[in-house]
Amino acid sequence: MTPARALLCLALLCASCRQNDDPTGADEVLARVQADDYRSWARAPGYEARVPSSAPHSDNVEIFVNDVVEAALASDGLSEWPVGSIIVKDGTSDDGELELIALMEKREDGWYWAEYDGSGAALYSGDVDVCVDCHASGGDFVRAFALP
Ligand code: HEC
Repeated sequence: MTPARALLCLALLCASCRQNDDPTGADEVLARVQADDYRSWARAPGYEARVPSSAPHSDNVEIFVNDVVEAALASDGLSEWPVGSIIVKDGTSDDGELELIALMEKREDGWYWAEYDGSGAALYSGDVDVCVDCHASGGDFVRAFALP
């Protein structure tokens, strides 16, 4: 196999192992948070600016929370994040280029997960095992900051 062909096979394998169960739904959520200008939302506690990340989400991250999460953070004694919570994370390279957008939205039936490339094309969506498994150690699945 030529190196080019080996690379192509790897790329195909990787594309098929991604769990993109709900691309239409993923487009809908992204359009919704972009229309709401999520980069103008409050920043997550501890993420007041772009910070380096060791998570598998890019070299640097910025994390934004919607008003539901913001209100929840101002309360106390919560054991879970309220329905309607949305958290959006931009992942950027060291030179500031947007590499991915990851988000989670709390719905009646639990968290909805989606991740996109820098152009906004969905790579993962739905009830994604790989997201859930790693986020299970967080407070109601949120890793960056604790439940109040
Ligand atoms: C191997 C572990 C791991 C996997 C897999 C993972 N994440 Fe994360 N994620 C983290 C960590 C750690 C943080 C917080 C720190 C950071 O971002 O640097 C985080 C933060 C986030 C945040 C900000 C809110 C929060 O929970 O802190 C979102 C949104 C997010 N991830 C979405 C996703 C989505 C969507 C997937 C699946 C496509 C995913 N993550 C897969 C480890 C993971």
